[in-house]
Amino acid sequence: MTGKIVILGVFVADTAYRADRMPRIGETILGNSFKLGPGGKGSNQSVAAARAGGTVHFISKLGRDPFADMALDTWKEAGVIPEVAQSDESYTGAAYIFIEEGTGDNAIIISPGIAGSITADYVAAQAGLIGGASVFMTQLEQPMEAAVRGLELARAAGVTTVLNPAPAAELPDGMLGLCDYVTPNESETEALTGRPVSGLDEARAAAEGLMSRGAGAAIITLGENGALYHDGRRSEHVPAFRAGDVVETTGAGDAFNGAFATALAEGRDPVEAVRFGCACAAISVTRPGTAPSMPRRSEIEALLAGGVG
Ligand code: RIB
Ligand code: NA
Repeated sequence: MTGKIVILGVFVADTAYRADRMPRIGETILGNSFKLGPGGKGSNQSVAAARAGGTVHFISKLGRDPFADMALDTWKEAGVIPEVAQSDESYTGAAYIFIEEGTGDNAIIISPGIAGSITADYVAAQAGLIGGASVFMTQLEQPMEAAVRGLELARAAGVTTVLNPAPAAELPDGMLGLCDYVTPNESETEALTGRPVSGLDEARAAAEGLMSRGAGAAIITLGENGALYHDGRRSEHVPAFRAGDVVETTGAGDAFNGAFATALAEGRDPVEAVRFGCACAAISVTRPGTAPSMPRRSEIEALLAGGVG
């Protein structure tokens, strides 16, 4: 039996610019291309989870503008159920994504817009929905107090909780104690623990550190090296899958988290859920964009079965 997934987070319009290099301050350079598309970590994770087969409710806020219409169209297409207030008090957020041609590396500025005013009380109004979920997941693009309240409500109801601590931020005392799973990437892990992560041993030590601060288990995502799952009793490295040539890695973490949540909501073993997440991420990086690059469940299953690549 598959349970509900409730995700709290932000939608923004991704404006992706490709250029040979970054402009310096005061300089204007010619870019090679531009693309507008749906983004924002929480929304991307919702799209990934729904396309992977989950029943997903997304708690957020939107303005009343063309970017809000883009959000609603995106969720409709993916089958994400919006739990979203819309008002013209502020704008729907946007992200500037710079992609360096050649390396594919990126740098991002995100302005959450109206989603930056999501409060703890706004989340508490969804206590019934959160309490009836099987998995609750959030990130750190909306205010911290909202993330904390969501995790508290979920934990109080016995709902499995996942925190994707992105973008990197300092966490209030006790927050990790509300998390069954915490899923930082390498740089977020370094920001949380103060120690660089460049190999599996360091990732394992960092995971121990996050668990000593209360997390039930840590999953450190390692880019092209896959992910490390560590819960104190079990420690398993899941290597990355390869699904084709890499065209854009932005949103790969969201692909991972969305599919991971879907597998957890199906009651799967957490290491199997990590494998499912890694397969989803591997396909997403072979396609441009963030939310638009999230694969369907059949594609993830084909990759896991060795049928693609
Ligand atoms: O994780 C990728 C996302 O981060 C992008 O879609 C961008 O909107 C930023 O929020
Ligand atoms: Na992509």
